[in-house]
Amino acid sequence: MTAGPGLWITLEGGDGSGKTTQSELLASWLGAQGSTVLRTREPGGSDVGTLIRDIVLHHRGDIAPRAEALLYAADRAHHVATVVRPALERGEVVIQDRYLDSSVAYQGAGRVLDATEVRDLSLWATEGALPNLTVLLDLDPVEARRRLDADDKPFDRLEAEREEFHARVRAAYLALAEAEPDRFLVVDAALPASEIAERVRARVAPLL
Ligand code: TYD
Repeated sequence: MTAGPGLWITLEGGDGSGKTTQSELLASWLGAQGSTVLRTREPGGSDVGTLIRDIVLHHRGDIAPRAEALLYAADRAHHVATVVRPALERGEVVIQDRYLDSSVAYQGAGRVLDATEVRDLSLWATEGALPNLTVLLDLDPVEARRRLDADDKPFDRLEAEREEFHARVRAAYLALAEAEPDRFLVVDAALPASEIAERVRARVAPLL
């Protein structure tokens, strides 16, 4: 169930897969087509979300898996209710970096929680809101690591997780895309950014 007359596009993929670049390219193309675009993200796309983001990404030490899943779901509930739904109701295009598929892939990959319960928690949090399109930027975690190492940005808590965890995240994302082919577009994130952007535009154009 989508959340209004607008168009809602989410970007997913591992850390270092190029979501920010693609979000910028898509937003500027849509702007040139005359769309009103809102770019946002999770965690941290709202005022309350900024506080939650600080906890989930920067708290030193462990957060119990269920608490972590609930924090992401709380961020999501407030973000969808106060930012995303209102924009879609105004008929805007929302381009969002990460949504519930991130929770399924990341919190599910911790092995404590299963994919279905994580997804159901997010759907409860957002009253069942699902995007019109989810672009999965699929990248081998070894290549993603190489890209992150090339940046001087300090790693956050999750970026420092083991390689094996990132391989499970990738597999979870691919399984989600396979289960919902109508919602997902999977693009090889090792392609040049301009080529990826072209593929995304081709999928978005008929939705406008
Ligand atoms: P993000 O700000 O997108 O970082 P990056 O630009 O490095 O991809 O996301 C921060 C981290 O939050 C990322 O490692 C994935 C994690 N995350 C979850 O584990 N569950 C979630 O539901 C969301 C939205 C993010």
